[in-house]
Amino acid sequence: MQAKIVTLPGDGIGPEVIAEAVRVLEAVAARFGHTFAFEEALMGGCAIDAVGDPLPEATLAACESADAVLLGAVGGPQWSDPTAAVRPEQGLLRLRQHFDLFANLRPVRTYPALAGHAPLRADLLDGVDILFVRELTSGIYFGERHEQGDGDRAWDTLFYTVDQVERVARVAFESARRRYGKVASVDKANVLAAMRLWRRTVNQVAADYPDVELEHVLVDACTMHLLRNPARFDVILAGNMFGDILSDEASVLAGSLGMLPSASLNASRFGVYEPIHGSAPDIAGRGIANPVATILSAAMLLRHSLGLETEAAAVEAAVDAALADGLRTADLVAPGETPASTAAFGTHVIEHLVQSD
Ligand code: IPM
Ligand code: MG
Repeated sequence: MQAKIVTLPGDGIGPEVIAEAVRVLEAVAARFGHTFAFEEALMGGCAIDAVGDPLPEATLAACESADAVLLGAVGGPQWSDPTAAVRPEQGLLRLRQHFDLFANLRPVRTYPALAGHAPLRADLLDGVDILFVRELTSGIYFGERHEQGDGDRAWDTLFYTVDQVERVARVAFESARRRYGKVASVDKANVLAAMRLWRRTVNQVAADYPDVELEHVLVDACTMHLLRNPARFDVILAGNMFGDILSDEASVLAGSLGMLPSASLNASRFGVYEPIHGSAPDIAGRGIANPVATILSAAMLLRHSLGLETEAAAVEAAVDAALADGLRTADLVAPGETPASTAAFGTHVIEHLVQSD
């Protein structure tokens, strides 16, 4: 097949990890007989520096013409002044909103090859395979009142409509059907009206999925269950902010934030794919970042936007094989071990990919 993929490397380690994911996608194209055209565009702090806007019109136009977008990371200390009028993160939020990317999929699994690396006891991590479905274009991030008062007050409104909850809940239930048949919906219905609407709506959607088991979990309790018994979860459905927080917490289960990919999808198959980690300015430019999250995001791109399931699974298997070979980037090495560079890890994944049958 032919596909156009726009890359938005962004800031910090973004360009380094995107470079590896693009090499992997090129290897997929060669191995499976596809033609992928890549176009790179500016987004985030680098776009602010270049043109004064974290999401320039030209970038939006490029994304409009693409089948999918692969994004690195945005942000850094030089753009973090809280009084600044433009911030890199605004570009990310506008991109999500512009394409109505309401369903954010964040799979979290543990890797046998990394057992012992995570700070939790290995027996707790056995069998962990969670899919976060995070609502991404509404909630408190996009509430109607979002302002800094003149003096000592500021507002962010938590707001949800039935439609907004319903569509993301359907994604969660559909996903559960293809997995282990369970949805845990996270809310704070004991305190917040918008979260009572969330719970009521999820219950209504659940009526269409009698084969899927639903439980409601309060967000504070969920943080605890994720550490005490993570294997009990299948699909975790959460609003924008709770999903943001819980998915970072759950990354600890995988051993490193550098392992977790994500897909942000709209109602058509269009999506923006990105690692859930940030731009890590402290290690940028040194060639030591973990490219796994971005390579696995590219696998999600193949699966969800291009419908290439075999190719996606081949990339995932190649990452598993590289880890099983003992390859580790700096975030995963034990003291005294020599880490693999970002590029060395990418090369190793590609070697497995071209060898696989
Ligand atoms: C994420 C990030 C973003 C978010 C920030 C950078 C705006 O933390 O994708 O999880 O909060 O959604
Ligand atoms: Mg986050």
